[in-house]
Formats: sequence, structure tokens, C-alpha cells
Amino acid sequence: MPDTSAPRAAGDHSHGGSVRQFYAKKGAKRMPTVARAQGIYMWDTDGKRYIDASSGPVVSNIGHGNERVLEAMIAQAKKVAFASRAVFENEPSIQLADLVTGLAGPGLERAFFVSGGSEATEAAIKLARQYAVIRGEAQRWKVIGREPGYHGASLGALAVTGDPQAHAAFGAMVKTMPKAPAPFTYRLPANHDADSYARQCAAALDELIRREGPESVLAFIMEPVGGLATGALVAPDHYYKTVREICTRHGVLLIYDEVMSGAGRTGAFLAADHWPEGRPDLVTLAKGIAAGYTPMGAVLAPSGMVEAVAESGGFLHGHTYAANPLSCAVGYAVVQEMIEKKMMANAQKMGARLRQRLEALQAKSAILGDIRGKGLLMAIEIVADKETKALLPPERQAVYRIMELGIERGLLLYSRRTANGKYGEWLMISPPLIVTESEIDEIVHLTGETLAAYEAELRRDKVI
Ligand SMILES: Cc1ncc(COP(=O)(O)O)c(C=O)c1O
Repeated sequence: MPDTSAPRAAGDHSHGGSVRQFYAKKGAKRMPTVARAQGIYMWDTDGKRYIDASSGPVVSNIGHGNERVLEAMIAQAKKVAFASRAVFENEPSIQLADLVTGLAGPGLERAFFVSGGSEATEAAIKLARQYAVIRGEAQRWKVIGREPGYHGASLGALAVTGDPQAHAAFGAMVKTMPKAPAPFTYRLPANHDADSYARQCAAALDELIRREGPESVLAFIMEPVGGLATGALVAPDHYYKTVREICTRHGVLLIYDEVMSGAGRTGAFLAADHWPEGRPDLVTLAKGIAAGYTPMGAVLAPSGMVEAVAESGGFLHGHTYAANPLSCAVGYAVVQEMIEKKMMANAQKMGARLRQRLEALQAKSAILGDIRGKGLLMAIEIVADKETKALLPPERQAVYRIMELGIERGLLLYSRRTANGKYGEWLMISPPLIVTESEIDEIVHLTGETLAAYEAELRRDKVI
């Protein structure tokens, strides 16, 4: 047996070790090791405390260590943790389906549970495809995505993901799908404002469908409030209505990827609820639906679609862990807790406070260019110059350095450089929906200190 007792640098043993070995170079600085978490705070094994200002990767919606969820987890595990859906129905999955479809409302009457966001994307596009085949529209197979956009890491999800870097590496292995431009609102092409650019982006979707041949297009998938790919991008209201009209006109299904924006995060159960005129045909959920307590995802679909697929012989898709009793019992407790503790209302209220406090910070900062988002799905964009919106030099990998400076100060932020920073660089500020006023103030205070430290580095190196 290898000696695992001594402190190690990533990758210094011949087997085992941290998953970081798949990401970090040999000898790279170790990340702290997590010891425990409660509410919106986390502690490492040295006893250092961190404020979870991003809910991890926008997952821990109801905060850490929730007693109700832990009790539900133990109670269900004691009854039955796993039962094959080939043999048994299980009550927790039925309860969770009833609950989430009730919250999602008309047109989304059925729920198909999976184990994460990528699986939800796969299931949604396969359900859409099977439905088209059943309806005699087998020529419809193209699923248009947005550039940039993110729908998961599996190869099917990658095909609809708008990420040039991922496509450079894996594109040869997938049937890359067409992409329509994402309606950015901050850094805009010349002679455009956010409204006119959103109109142009919607028109570009229409043109793309026509160019591809409307009869060949199955669906359009987009994040109604963006995740990391666009930094919590919210389009002008008219975009959602127009996109809906375009899809309807061409017989194209509209899929909202609500893996990040769903489950209450934006102050409504679905981000779709903010734009009733842009109602989607299918919705994917993950992350917040089980809030990190168990791997969980879902596809919400219209009953007519599900019935047609079932009548034709059944959905040609499934995963071993799909709708397992333990995960569903946990998901049910999470969603119940979110509803009973009125976390959506808190997300609205605290989101407004977060924005207001960040705006005050922006006025003092030379590099905080934009604040955007909805509810508690917020992001800040970092620039070299607020006037020109100039990008920072890519070799500085600004957001990763800012995350590091945050960790030093006990602040956890979340970011990933979309398309190597081509569209800009942003960090998510998306605390658990239980966040209080004083915790919002603490997050913004630490964010201010972190950005000031980074600004000082940029000045020292004469970058700004
Ligand atoms: C919008 C969106 N869709 C899909 C995914 C993929 O989810 P998962 O990582 O659970 O597979 C993510 C993950 O970040 C996401 O943000």
C-alpha cells in the first residue's frame, strides 16, 4: 500500500490521489481540503472559514448542512436506497415529479429524472428527437445552440454547446450543431445597443433556421439566464417572445436549459416564469434541484409528448441511476425546504441588495465593468478599462487569479474562462438562496478587497 499519510503535492504518487491530478500540473499549489460546511460557510482541514459566495458551481441553493434534507436522506436510505425502475415504481420519484411539475406549471406536466445537467441535456434532445420521429418528421434532427452557451460535458451535450475551445479538442468526435449568437448586452458590436443587438440575434436565429432548412431543425436550446458561458446574461424582454415566435413558426421545439437558472435561483421556480410569452416546450434542471446533496437532474416535458413517446413503445433512453429513490427523496426534501422557507422571495430581495451593493463597489473599482443577472444568479465582468471595455491580456488568466485572491481572503467565487476569454471574463456571485443581508454585505466587502488586490497587481505590472 502506498503511504498516504504525508502531505503531498498533486500527482506525486504513482496511483490514487486527488482528482486535481487530472487538471493541475505536477507540483501545482494544492487546493484546501474541505472539512465541513454549514449554512453559507465552509471550513477547510486547517480550520480556515470561507463564505460560499457562489454556492460552489451554483449548486448549493439551500445552503450546507440542512437538517431536513439530511434526515430525509437517512430515512430513505434506511428504507431503500436503490430499486431498479425495470421492476419497481418508487414513491419519492412520484412525489418529486408531482411537486416540480406543479411548480413548473402548464405545458410541463411530466418529469424525467437523471443524475446531472449533462444527462438532462442528453435526455431532452433525445426525447425531442424521438417525438419528431414518431410524428413522421424524421428529417428533423438539428438542435441549434447559442455561441457562447453551455449545456454539458458529455459528447451529445457538447454538440449543442457553443464553446470553440471544447470543439477544437473534441469537435471531430461529435456532430457539431449550428449556433446562433448569444444576445450579449455589455460588449456590443458597433452601432448597437442591447435592444437592437438582441433583435439582431433573434433575426440571426431565424436566418439560421431558414438556411439550415426549417424542416431539418428539431429544436433550439438556450439558457434563459446564462450561466458561466455568458456570465449570467439576461436578454432584453422582447428577445424571449421573439425567439418563441420564431420556433413556433418553424415547428422547432424551444428547450430552456435551466440547469443553473432553475429551482428558484432567479427568484422564480423557473427563469422561464419571468417571460410568460417565451414559454419553452422542454426544460432541463439540475444543480439546485438537489442543491448538492445528491447528483440529480430532470427534464420537464409536456404530457402529450411523453404520452406519444410511451405509446410508440417507450423512451429509447435511460440511465441506471435515473429516478432512484434515494436521490428523489433528497430532491423532494430540498425543493420542499426551498418552498417552505420562501427562498425564492429571499432570492429576489437579496438579489436586489447584492446588485445595489455591487454597483457601489463598481463606482470605486477600475476593473469592475458590468454587473448582470437575475435574482441570485449574478455575475461581475472584469475589464482592463471601464471606458473602452477592453479585455485583460489573456495570459493573465484574470478570473483564476481573482478566485485565488478570494480564497486567500476566505471568499469563494466561481468562474471558468469561456472561449479563452474571447467574449470577456466574469465571475459568478450566486450565494445560497438562504443568504441574509449581513452575509450579502460580507460577500460584497470581501469581493471589494479581492478586486482591489487584483487591481493593485495590474497596476504594479503596468497592465492598467
Ligand atoms: C447551463 C448548464 N447546463 C448544463 C450543465 C451541465 O451540468 P453537469 O455539470 O451537472 O453535467 C451546466 C453545468 O455547469 C450548466 O451550467
